[in-house]
Amino acid sequence: MLKNKEIILGVTGGIAAYKAAELLREMTRREANVHVVMTQHAQQFVSPLTFQTLSGNPVLSEMFRLFMGSKIGHVTLADIANLTVIAPATANILGKIANGVADDLLTTMVMAMKVPVLFAPSMNVNMWESSFVQNNVERLKAYGYQFIGPAEGDLACGSEGRGRLADIAEIIEKIEDIFTKKDLQGQRILVTAGPTLEPVDPVRYITNRSTGKMGFALAKMACRRGAMVTLITGPNYLSLPRSDIPQIVVHSAREMREAVREQYDDCHIIIMAAAVADFRPQDTRGGKIKKRENGTYALELEKNPDILKELGENKGDHILVGFAAETSELMENAEAKLKEKNLDLIIANDVTQPGAGFGVDTNIVKILDTRGRARKLPLMTKEDVADIILDQVVKLVKKKEKGLPWPRNW
Ligand code: CTP
Repeated sequence: MLKNKEIILGVTGGIAAYKAAELLREMTRREANVHVVMTQHAQQFVSPLTFQTLSGNPVLSEMFRLFMGSKIGHVTLADIANLTVIAPATANILGKIANGVADDLLTTMVMAMKVPVLFAPSMNVNMWESSFVQNNVERLKAYGYQFIGPAEGDLACGSEGRGRLADIAEIIEKIEDIFTKKDLQGQRILVTAGPTLEPVDPVRYITNRSTGKMGFALAKMACRRGAMVTLITGPNYLSLPRSDIPQIVVHSAREMREAVREQYDDCHIIIMAAAVADFRPQDTRGGKIKKRENGTYALELEKNPDILKELGENKGDHILVGFAAETSELMENAEAKLKEKNLDLIIANDVTQPGAGFGVDTNIVKILDTRGRARKLPLMTKEDVADIILDQVVKLVKKKEKGLPWPRNW
C-alpha cells in the first residue's frame, strides 16, 4: 500500500524524535519514498544524518538555504507528496499550524498542502490536557487534519498519563488506513479466529495448532477498508495495531457459538476463520485426572456444534465465508463444505504445505465460490490473502446491495 508513495515525515523537537527514525525505517521497508523535514529544535534531539541515511534523501530544515540550487522547493515537495506525517508533533507545532503560523519550512509546507496530514502528538500529559492544546487539536480536526495518539503510559518527563507517541505499528496502520479505499464502508463483519480449547479437567484441555493469524489479518484488513468489525477469538498471543476492533475472547466451541449467535443479527458478513474443535470430552472432570500405574486412559469425546453449518441453516441475507483446513483431497472436501454449510465462499487451505496453515505469517489458498469457480493464490502474506478474500466479499456485497437492520430468528 505504501509502495512508491511520496511521504513527508515532519520531525519536531520532542524527546520522542528518536522514535521517528524507527517510523521512517518501517515506511521505507514498505517501499515508500520518504522526505524528512526537521524543525530546528528536532535537530537538538537527533542528527539529520540519521534520517538522511535511513531515507536516502536529503533532510530538509531551512526554508531558504537548503533549497539553493535544488529543484525541490517547499511548494514542489508539497505538490508531489501523497501524505505528510508529523511525528512527534509537539504542542508548539500543533499551535502554529492551528493558528496559521508559517514561520519555518515544515509549517510553510503544511500550509501549501492539499493531501492528508497526520499528526502523532507527543508531550507531557499536562500540556496535552491543557485547553490551549485541546482547542488547537479540535480546530485542526475541524480543518480535516488527522490524529493518531497520544498513547497512555510512562512519559519521558517522569510523569504518567496520556502523552506518549503512539506505537510505531499503530502509526503505520493509520497511514495504511489513510491510503486504503473504503469499499466495505457500512458493512458489519464478524470474524472468528484462533483455536477453541475443550477442557478435560482443571489442568488440561484439547485444542489444535491454530494461532489466530489468518482471522486477525482478516479483521485488520476489513477494518482498514471501512467495515465495522467484531472479532471473536479463541485464546491467542496476538495483538492488533488497531483499537477500533472489539474483541470477544472465548474458550470452548460452545462459547464461540454463543458469542457468534449474539452478534449474528447485527452483521452482514461472517468470516469463520476459527479452527473450531469438532469434539470435546464427554464429561469434564472436576478434579485433576491422576496417572494410573500401567494404565492407558481412554477419553470419551462427543461432537461439538458445527457453528458455521448452523449459520448456513439460518442464512437469511448474510454473506457466509468459511475456511476448509485440509490435509488431502483439498478441492473435493472444500467443495463439499461449501455446499453442506450453505456458504458463499470457502477458502481451501492445505495445511501440510510449507508456508501455509497454522502459526505462519503466510498462506497458500484457493478461493471457491458457489458457481464452481476456484481462484488459486500463490504463497503470500496472510494480510494479502485477507485482502483478496475481501475483494471477493466486496463483489458479493455489491451484488446483494443490502442494508441493516433485518430480522432473524434462531
Ligand atoms: N467450523 C465451525 N464449527 C465447527 C467446525 C468447523 O463453525 N464445529 C467452521 C470453521 O470455522 C471453518 C469451516 O467450518 O470455517 C470448516 O472447518 P474445518 O475444520 O475445515 O472442517 P469441519 O467442518 O470441521 O470438517 P472436518 O473436520 O471433517 O474436515
